[in-house]
Amino acid sequence: MKRSVSSERWLKEHFADPYVKKAQQEGYRCRAAYKLLEIQKKYRLIKPPMNVVDLGAAPGGWSQVVAKLLQHHGKIFALDILPMEPISHVDFIQGDFQEEAVYDQLSARVGAQKIDVVLSDMAPNMSGIIVSDQAKVFYLAELALDFAQKVLKPGGAFLVKVFQGGEFEAYHKQLRVNFKFIKVCKPDASRDRSKEIYLLAENYQRVEG
Ligand SMILES: C[S@@+](CC[C@H](N)C(=O)[O-])C[C@H]1O[C@@H](n2cnc3c(N)ncnc32)[C@H](O)[C@@H]1O
Repeated sequence: MKRSVSSERWLKEHFADPYVKKAQQEGYRCRAAYKLLEIQKKYRLIKPPMNVVDLGAAPGGWSQVVAKLLQHHGKIFALDILPMEPISHVDFIQGDFQEEAVYDQLSARVGAQKIDVVLSDMAPNMSGIIVSDQAKVFYLAELALDFAQKVLKPGGAFLVKVFQGGEFEAYHKQLRVNFKFIKVCKPDASRDRSKEIYLLAENYQRVEG
């Protein structure tokens, strides 16, 4: 089968990528683990004991990082539309976060336990049509924020993947309503060409609207 130019380029980059090699050597399921590790190194986001939710968790790189950092002191709830190989001490739900039933299932699993950190690395399938891709990304980010506002304890943190452009400014502004500090992070492990960027919102305070 003949490969497209873009998939050839992706494969070339993938195999030459130092983070792909590092992940294989260090036992992480994917290179994405290094994005969280970089953010962790800079901001000390995860510390035991904590309860953490990992949205868009598959194949499990971020959950692996969190599990290692917590050393069983705290709980990890993970969710993805795709299946994920089990990780010790990670409570995984498979389902589409956009579906109310799945959202409710995760909320029920968390129950009354207060969450210290909500992570969202969710990314929709990209069509290449920028306007529609941007809209999907920000819709998922909106849902993740809505969830974070329901489960986070005061002082909690929310780390979310978004894209530069589109509704970035409006979303950033929305975060400022409930979080005291917002940091914009572009980890080295996030490929230069990619428009993805992470927002780290810290010190959650519930503002009744
Ligand atoms: C970049 S990957 C996450 C990688 C992950 N952080 C890791 O370290 O292994 C993005 C994930 O978001 C998931 N995703 C996208 N849309 C979703 C949705 N509506 N509900 C749940 N997961 C979703 C995808 O299935 C994909 O596994």
